[in-house]
Amino acid sequence: MKKKLISMLLITACVFSMAACKSSKDEGSKEEKSEDGKQTLVMATNAEFPPYEFHEGDDIVGIDAEMAAAVAEELGMDFKIEDMAFDSIIPAVDSGKADIGVAGMTVTEDRLQNVNFSDTYAKATQVVIVKEDSDIKGPEALTGKKVGVQLGTTGDIYASDIKDAQVEQYNKGFEAVQALTQGKIDAVVIDGEPAKEFVKDAKELKILDEAFTEEEYAIAIAKDNEELLEKVNGALAKLKESGKMDEIVAKYIKSDAE
Ligand code: ARG
Repeated sequence: MKKKLISMLLITACVFSMAACKSSKDEGSKEEKSEDGKQTLVMATNAEFPPYEFHEGDDIVGIDAEMAAAVAEELGMDFKIEDMAFDSIIPAVDSGKADIGVAGMTVTEDRLQNVNFSDTYAKATQVVIVKEDSDIKGPEALTGKKVGVQLGTTGDIYASDIKDAQVEQYNKGFEAVQALTQGKIDAVVIDGEPAKEFVKDAKELKILDEAFTEEEYAIAIAKDNEELLEKVNGALAKLKESGKMDEIVAKYIKSDAE
């Protein structure tokens, strides 16, 4: 319905401006074709989220990147990653610019209004990072504190519910952690695995034992692309069954019994 309205508005705008308009669906994906005639599965992500997606030289690597590449292979498709701001991923998927959004993205009711989600592929938590000598001993002690988050993430959403907290939004999770190191904020609320990566080399920081929330990651797909949703779920099931999924995870998360 919403899409129809938007395209009608666009048509109207085109007629009146006589500009050369084309639907956004023609420019990016909706499974674009590559030279070998295969369709390309375009993944939208925000590669600031180790171990799920991060830059390694010129490449984007990580659990999500490898998992999505394996899904594409399973579907006989070529594969391409588009890196963007985290809060641009759902719009990119919704508009068809990308086919899938894979970004350690938590399934939430709100997001389900705009996209479908695949079966979940990982359990996750939001945790609290503080300075080693902080008086914040648990999530409930965040009341009235300065809390850093990555813009548009579930950490951002949950932090805004903390009473009297001042939420500082950063474009990258790592920037929030840096601000904490520099004493500009009191805590960071962020996903557990990236938190471990960010804190690894920062002796003055620690992750509180008590998790803030529990959540699950899944792949975002446009609402009008149920066919792809089914295919992706099929491919995910195969990757789980064959052990390939575990293999990818083990490569990036050195098991500490979790
Ligand atoms: N799990 C959180 C969310 O869905 C954070 C994800 C951030 N991902 C990223 N690639 N930066 O909101």
